[in-house]
Amino acid sequence: MAETLRVGVLAGSTRPARRARAVAEWICAGPEPGELALDLTVVDLEEVGLPMLAEPEPPAFGRYALEHTKAWAELVAGFDAYVLVSPEYNHSTTAVLKNALDHLYAEWQDKAVGFVGYGTGGGVRAVEHLRGITAELGMAGVGPQVALDIFEDFDDRGRCEPRARQAEARRRMLTGLARWGRSLWGLRPQETLDGERPRLHSPAATDEASTAVERLIETLQGGGDTTDADAYDRMFADDILWGSPYGRTLAGYKQLNEIHHTLMAKRVAPPSRFEPVQILAPAPDVAIAHIRRRALQDGTDGPGFSEMAMYVLIKRNGTWWLAAGQNTPIADPPAAP
Ligand SMILES: Cc1cc2nc3c(=O)[nH]c(=O)nc-3n(C[C@H](O)[C@H](O)[C@H](O)COP(=O)(O)O)c2cc1C
Repeated sequence: MAETLRVGVLAGSTRPARRARAVAEWICAGPEPGELALDLTVVDLEEVGLPMLAEPEPPAFGRYALEHTKAWAELVAGFDAYVLVSPEYNHSTTAVLKNALDHLYAEWQDKAVGFVGYGTGGGVRAVEHLRGITAELGMAGVGPQVALDIFEDFDDRGRCEPRARQAEARRRMLTGLARWGRSLWGLRPQETLDGERPRLHSPAATDEASTAVERLIETLQGGGDTTDADAYDRMFADDILWGSPYGRTLAGYKQLNEIHHTLMAKRVAPPSRFEPVQILAPAPDVAIAHIRRRALQDGTDGPGFSEMAMYVLIKRNGTWWLAAGQNTPIADPPAAP
């Protein structure tokens, strides 16, 4: 199951008898968010109650002075993606939504955004303007959008009663948001609340990291099986940092490769099987893996020297390289005194 993406659904109008709140609630209802692992929350700009922007410095400088801006920043930072619900006011979005967007900068960056417009023509001109504004804020606007018609998708008391086809538009928009929202995860530093440890693993980077670790295992296995040190060390970076199982620190491909030539000529390691144990993908192009080398005898676990290694892989110019490794012999722990 994919990790849940927290989505803020901004209700972008605040006048009495507005429709934005009902539209935002309609977006949050329905079966798909659970399937798409989306946690949708209405963020009602009427309740947020931001005054017009009065920060002394541009928000891009990241130094918010006013308490209400700080509170808004904290609320916005808590979401991984957004849906902007906007009516069309004079061929654009609302002042209140533009003001809410203008208040912040870093909090919007590298996040996906979906759009829901409404008006006499589906609010499409409001959404077109929002696409430009959010692009300037570093957001990725998903293509599929919802365009509600105030005559066709609301009842005569202004309640949101979308035609059947709008459910499909909503599903397509949310599907795009889930895909892009999750892909952008790895680009952002993981926000942490005070006193909370960061979770470093980035689900978006997992597949690529797993492929890199598989390739490393194939390389080590191939080099080990043929006792070919150059093949074994093929993915090692020039400035690789290496910890031997007995506490020596080695630095650089040249030194390590010479030692591997000697060890392989003497066949110090028995026939072995390399197996992945766990992988951490903290960011795109970085993989940290625990890989076990088991000594084999006649194809099954053997008595010889086995070890557990911690490896760090980095992708540079499209190619994965081993940046660091630390080997530890697998042995019984010392008996308790
Ligand atoms: C100030 C204002 C300007 C409007 N301009 C447009 C417009 O340019 N295009 C359009 O399709 N509808 C326009 N409308 C109609 C709105 O789309 C419709 O009233 C909608 O319900 C407004 O959203 P709200 O009820 O959430 O405030 C406008 C409404 C207002 C209040």
